[in-house]
Amino acid sequence: MTSRSFKVAVCGATGAVGREMLAVLEDRGFPVSELVLLASERSEGTKLEFRGEEHTVRKLTAGAFRGCQIGLFSPGASVSREYAPHAAQAGCVVVDNSSAFRLDPDVPLVVPEVNPGAVAGHKKKGIIANPNCSTIQMAVALKPLHDAAGLKRVVVSTYQSVSGAGQKGIAELEEQTVAILNQRDFTPRKFPHRIAFNLLPGGWPPSPNGYNEEEMKMINETRKIMGLPGLALTATCVRVPVFVAHSEAVNVTLEKKLSADEAREILRKAPGIKVVDAPQDHVWPMPMLAAGDDAVLVGRIREDLSQEAGLDFFVVADNLRKGAATNAVQIAEILAREHL
Ligand SMILES: NC(=O)c1ccc[n+]([C@@H]2O[C@H](COP(=O)([O-])OP(=O)(O)OC[C@H]3O[C@@H](n4cnc5c(N)ncnc54)[C@H](OP(=O)(O)O)[C@@H]3O)[C@@H](O)[C@H]2O)c1
Repeated sequence: MTSRSFKVAVCGATGAVGREMLAVLEDRGFPVSELVLLASERSEGTKLEFRGEEHTVRKLTAGAFRGCQIGLFSPGASVSREYAPHAAQAGCVVVDNSSAFRLDPDVPLVVPEVNPGAVAGHKKKGIIANPNCSTIQMAVALKPLHDAAGLKRVVVSTYQSVSGAGQKGIAELEEQTVAILNQRDFTPRKFPHRIAFNLLPGGWPPSPNGYNEEEMKMINETRKIMGLPGLALTATCVRVPVFVAHSEAVNVTLEKKLSADEAREILRKAPGIKVVDAPQDHVWPMPMLAAGDDAVLVGRIREDLSQEAGLDFFVVADNLRKGAATNAVQIAEILAREHL
C-alpha cells in the first residue's frame, strides 16, 4: 500500500466501533508504527490486544494526539466535537464516526466506493466524516445504479441491529433474551421498550417533521455523499433483535429502465458489493452472512411491478465493519497513499 507507517490514535477504543477498528486495522495490514488507545476515564488502564500485543487504554486529553498522523474517532458526537479540533490542530487528520461534522460543508463525508476524491477536502479542517452506518451500505449499492440509469427517487425501510446502539445495545438484547427465556423480570434501559422478541419502529430522537434522527441522517447524508442535493428519498428505520448487521429493503425509481438481470450485472461489477441472489435456492443477503464481512451484500433484485423504471432489492452489511470501522480504515488508506 505504502512503504511508510503511521502513528495512529483510536479514540473511543473500548466501544463497539473502536474494538472493531483495531480488528480491521490488523486484518487489512494497515501500516501502524505506533498505536495510541484513548477512551474515557472509566476505561483508563484497560488492556486491548493488537497484533498479539497488549496495549493500555489512556484517558482522552487535548494533548493526547501529539505526534499522531491519523486519528480514528468513535467516542460519540459531543466528545468528537470537543476533541477532533485538538487532534487536527496537532497535525493528526481525524476520521470521525460520529454525526458531529457530517453535514459541515467544510468537512468531506466519504464512502470510498462512492466519492473517494472528496478525501482531499480534509485540508480545510483536518477532519473527514464517516457517514451513518445505514447510509454507507445503501450508498454503496445506489452509486452503480445511479451511474448506469440515473436515480430519481429512493424509498428505504431498515432492519437495524442492536450493535448500532453500541456496547449498551448489545448488552441489552443479551440480558433481555436470557431474562425472558428464564422467565425473569427486567427493565429496558438502552431502548424505550423491550427489544428481545420485538421490533422498535423508533427510539432515535424524533424530528419535528415526524421523521426521526436516523431517518433524517439517511436522507441528508446520502444526498451529500452522492452529490445529489435534490434527490427524492424517504426512510423508515426499525430496530430489530439482531446483534450485528443492518438490513435494508430499498426501492428505487430510475431515469432509465434496467432489467433485474442488467441491475444484477451492474452490481456484480461494482466495488465493495457481493451479489447474493438465488432465491430459488434460498440464497439471500442475511445478517448472519454479513456479520464479520467487509462487503455490502445485495440480493432479492427484481423489477418493481408498480412503475415503469423501478427496482426493488435487499441490502445487508456489518454495521460495525463497513458501516463504521472498515469505511474509516479505507479512508485512512487513501490518506496514507495520497495525502500524508
Ligand atoms: N455502533 C455502530 O454501528 C456505529 C456505526 C457508525 C457510527 N457509529 C458512531 O460511533 C460512535 C461510537 O459508537 P459505539 O457504537 O462504538 O458506542 P459505544 O460502544 O458506546 O462506545 C463509545 C466509546 O466512546 C468512549 N467514550 C464515551 N465518552 C467518552 C469521553 N467523555 N471521553 C472519551 N471517550 C469516551 C467510550 O469509552 P468508555 O468505554 O471509557 O466509556 C467508548 O470507547 C457514535 O457516535 C456512533 O453514532 C456507531
